[in-house]
Amino acid sequence: MITKTNTRNERPSKPVSASYTTIAVQMLPSDANPMGNVHGGTILKLVDMAAAAAALRHSRKNVVTVSIDRMDFIQPVYVGNLLTLKASVNYVGTTSMEVGVRVEAEDLRSGNVTHTNSSYLTYVALDDQGRPTIVPEVIPRTSDEKRRWKEGKQRRDQRLRMLTARQKTRSRARE
Ligand SMILES: CC(C)(COP(=O)(O)OP(=O)(O)OC[C@H]1O[C@@H](n2cnc3c(N)ncnc32)[C@H](O)[C@@H]1OP(=O)(O)O)[C@@H](O)C(=O)NCCC(=O)NCCS
Repeated sequence: MITKTNTRNERPSKPVSASYTTIAVQMLPSDANPMGNVHGGTILKLVDMAAAAAALRHSRKNVVTVSIDRMDFIQPVYVGNLLTLKASVNYVGTTSMEVGVRVEAEDLRSGNVTHTNSSYLTYVALDDQGRPTIVPEVIPRTSDEKRRWKEGKQRRDQRLRMLTARQKTRSRARE
């Protein structure tokens, strides 16, 4: 078990708004798949970048991605679209943070905006020795932030249940 570098009693807190991050990038022909639409991997990389920046803003520590929940590509993204990724910390455990990312594509000529993806990613903050370290509590203020916090807690519980079940299956397979 890795030692945590702080205790719960001294734990500071930050509002969700301290982690708000927006990235906007115009999609180029080099981002396309063989069909000419934007490659899913390009979008996934940008999602991870935006989410990591939000986790860093919340923790002000180095962070690593420990898990990415399922990612559904609801609508195609086209070359020329302006892709906007909005990320913020939804919920924190002790050393981990769930970050939600919403992706929208704007047709710059018509101004039409479509919601193309949403995803939840979990990051762990690391201290200077590369060990998981405690992050500030997150304080939801708006009704959307409160809803995301509640749903983030449920997703975290579900992830941890799945992790425990997977670990049990692996150790049974080893016996
Ligand atoms: C992230 C890492 C340091 C965690 O190490 P660990 O030994 O599992 O540490 P812990 O058991 O103390 O877990 C740390 C936290 O991660 C969470 N966690 C671990 N595995 C997880 C998973 N698969 N999904 C979600 N959360 C997970 C734990 O619940 C814990 O959260 P909490 O402190 O908020 O309760 C380690 O798994 C690692 O280095 N992974 C590789 C990361 C990486 O290279 N990412 C890609 C490039 S950035």
